[in-house]
Amino acid sequence: MTDHNTECPMTDVPAQAERILIVDDDPSMRTALMESVRRLGFDVQGAIDGADAVERVSRYKPWLVVTDLKMPRLGGLDLIKEIKSRSPHTLMVLMTAYGTVETAVEAMKYGASDYILKPFSTDLLERVIANLKARGADASMSPSAPIDQRSILTQDPGMVRLLSTVEGVAASQATVLIHGESGTGKELLARFIHSRSPRAHRPFIAVNCAALPDGLLESELFGHERGAFTGAIMKKIGKFEMAHTGTLLLDEISEINMGLQAKLLRVIQEREVDRVGGREPVSVNIRVIATTNRSLYHEVEQGRFREDLYYRLNVFPITVPPLRERPADIPLLVRHFVAVSAARNGLPQPTISEAAYAMLQDRRWKGNVRELENVMERAVLLAGNGPILPSHVLLDFVGQPVSCAPVPSVPLPSANGSLWEMERELIFQTLARVNENRTHAAKELGISIRTLRNKLREYRGTSCQVLA
Ligand SMILES: Nc1ncnc2c1ncn2[C@@H]1O[C@H](COP(=O)(O)OP(=O)(O)OP(=O)(O)O)[C@@H](O)[C@H]1O
Ligand SMILES: [Mg+2]
Repeated sequence: MTDHNTECPMTDVPAQAERILIVDDDPSMRTALMESVRRLGFDVQGAIDGADAVERVSRYKPWLVVTDLKMPRLGGLDLIKEIKSRSPHTLMVLMTAYGTVETAVEAMKYGASDYILKPFSTDLLERVIANLKARGADASMSPSAPIDQRSILTQDPGMVRLLSTVEGVAASQATVLIHGESGTGKELLARFIHSRSPRAHRPFIAVNCAALPDGLLESELFGHERGAFTGAIMKKIGKFEMAHTGTLLLDEISEINMGLQAKLLRVIQEREVDRVGGREPVSVNIRVIATTNRSLYHEVEQGRFREDLYYRLNVFPITVPPLRERPADIPLLVRHFVAVSAARNGLPQPTISEAAYAMLQDRRWKGNVRELENVMERAVLLAGNGPILPSHVLLDFVGQPVSCAPVPSVPLPSANGSLWEMERELIFQTLARVNENRTHAAKELGISIRTLRNKLREYRGTSCQVLA
């Protein structure tokens, strides 16, 4: 490819990977952004609107374009479409205000690599750029690539404060313990910490400690040598070793038994793993994040969790508040999930009636964000081509009562077709569909694995013949 450009002799042109174009019609914003990008060591140009940007992209050939949404002549979305059709390898990031999440989702569909919700700190922009660098050639998403759902959306002041503290701790090596009710976004937060850490482009390995029986969990975590036990035909590398140089998420850590807790303590203290049946310890460099939806301290008091391990994990404790304590997030997440579901199902973006909003706002959301996500997915499908009305908002009955209340030993009086039975049916059907994989079933049902297990225990205690 030859491109004769007399204005810019090749020797003076910085490598393409070093060039960034900032597009914003607000001069002070544009200057500030250009300045912070320049401080990162990039070569930078500014464009005053979309049309100016199109021209500059063809001459300047930037690696990345960071664009505002609303501008005269050509807006941010049209700019993304335009640039992506002319030069698909140019990376695009959209800056957009809260409340226009649909637009952000739209932008990702057109091939934007990321979006930044305004207002944001220059820190965040720097991290987004660093992330794109780390993602290298893969950073550009094709229009058919899945929408990146990893960003944590919030406009709740408490959550915003929490996230900025978390960004600080992400940069460190500190072990983080995340408390929170089921479905509040603990795993998402763990991924967020990893993505904002110096280990961002190293592995992120998650282990759900509740999903496996003890023996399996042990070899899953620590690995085993060939022939270590009956059935160990091949050597297996454990998750600790897989996470080497990266982050290991120990999800639902309260579910680990005392024996494994001792082994875990050793790895966390010594950073050395003993494979089952292995002779030599293997040293690992990992950052540990753990989540729990029970109070781990309470577990210690009850003698179910080792105190020494608790203190090792509790270096930086975070509590994610339940959704009902951050009501401002409800409409934001509703719009986001509706936009994502409609895009995924190839449906037009529906509007949401005020009455439906009111219903959603009043709910206690015991299943938190996950429950809301499921409810909105169903609402989108039920609404079809029309607006979302209260009748489309089918509130979840599965997962509602059990996670907080003790499981009744005797089921509610049940005639055929009672809620209790419908729920049980649904659970078994789902389990059958996913080959009895409880983790998958719980995800599909929108309940925690613990809730699922409690349910199954409850069903086993009844006289019904349920599974062959
Ligand atoms: N603030 C948020 N913005 C966007 N999506 C969110 C947010 N919080 C949670 N989600 C989504 O809600 C769902 C549940 O989140 P996640 O799995 O992280 O919760 P959890 O606390 O780990 O749940 P559980 O205790 O059931 O394991 C996920 O699909 C996640 O992407
Ligand atoms: Mg989780």
